[in-house]
Amino acid sequence: MLQKITDLLIEVSSLSVKNPEELELFRLKYLSKKGLLSDLFEDFKNVPGSEKKEIGQKLNLLKQNALEKYNALKTELLNHEEKENGTDLTRPSFPFSLGSRHPISIVRTELIDIFTRIGFTVSEGPEIEDDDHVFTKLNFAPEHPARDMQDTFYISRISSEDSSPEDILLRTHTSSVQVRVMQNQKPPIRTISPGRVFRNEAISARAHCIFHQVEGLYIDENVSFADLRQTLLFFAREMFGEDTEIRLRPSYFPFTEPSAEMDVSCKICGGKGCNVCKHTGWLEVLGCGMVHPNVLEACKIDSKKYTGFAFGMGIERAAMLKYGVNDLRLYFENDLRFLDQFKSAF
Ligand code: PHE
Repeated sequence: MLQKITDLLIEVSSLSVKNPEELELFRLKYLSKKGLLSDLFEDFKNVPGSEKKEIGQKLNLLKQNALEKYNALKTELLNHEEKENGTDLTRPSFPFSLGSRHPISIVRTELIDIFTRIGFTVSEGPEIEDDDHVFTKLNFAPEHPARDMQDTFYISRISSEDSSPEDILLRTHTSSVQVRVMQNQKPPIRTISPGRVFRNEAISARAHCIFHQVEGLYIDENVSFADLRQTLLFFAREMFGEDTEIRLRPSYFPFTEPSAEMDVSCKICGGKGCNVCKHTGWLEVLGCGMVHPNVLEACKIDSKKYTGFAFGMGIERAAMLKYGVNDLRLYFENDLRFLDQFKSAF
């Protein structure tokens, strides 16, 4: 028996396993209830008293060695598996890369921040609108070209020939939200409406069929063009820098009278003239004007008592001017190389 134990001690110490199956066979052969060790302990009962001490010590040593070997082989297998899977639990974790906000979101938030600081509230409304809120109430003549299929995405039209206030369409500007505000609130009204708008345009570096706007409306007693100018000057300096100058050029919109287009001094050349401002020193930013009395009356606001101003701008355009982006399509392509550049506090 002594010889058998000595042989097994050597066998156990030289054993190795390649996979969990072999490890289990090892356990069954030596350590299980029907394994070799169990048998030996059974035989040990019959060993004569004079030999018990020596054989007993050897047998215990074998048991201990077999257990230790089993645990060592198990750990070795686990480590091996980890290496195969490429997992090293002691390695520091990968740095977590934070995303960045989309430039349109950044500029939108900044615009909202600027105007809410001077008392404007934020209003939102539906993207699927009717002709009444997008055109009719805003003093668009029935045959105005903006209502044309070429400019507007219609969802359903009452008649194929004439436009009707009940036609359903995708809003072409967020002025429709302001109509809803005027219908539902009493002056004083001071609100901006940010949102997505849709125009049936061919996609190019300068135009897209979907873009974003922020439009503003202020209605109260004695609101003047000077209030409009001062509000826009405040906005331009907050947005484009303290030394920004603005200029207002006469323009036309059906819903404002008088109407104007606002330019800001070109930041890139400091007004001297460059490629970006097409050598004029000025960049066009927004449309604005005094709310047309017809619009106030259509929304049941007394145009003898109240006056107001409105303005509207494209967020993409404002972002282009702020960041010097020269192609509108970049905003819609989700190219991370472009988007990653816009880390911001907002
Ligand atoms: N609604 C106009 C547009 O979409 C912008 C605008 C708003 C102009 C308010 C004047 C006053 O282009």
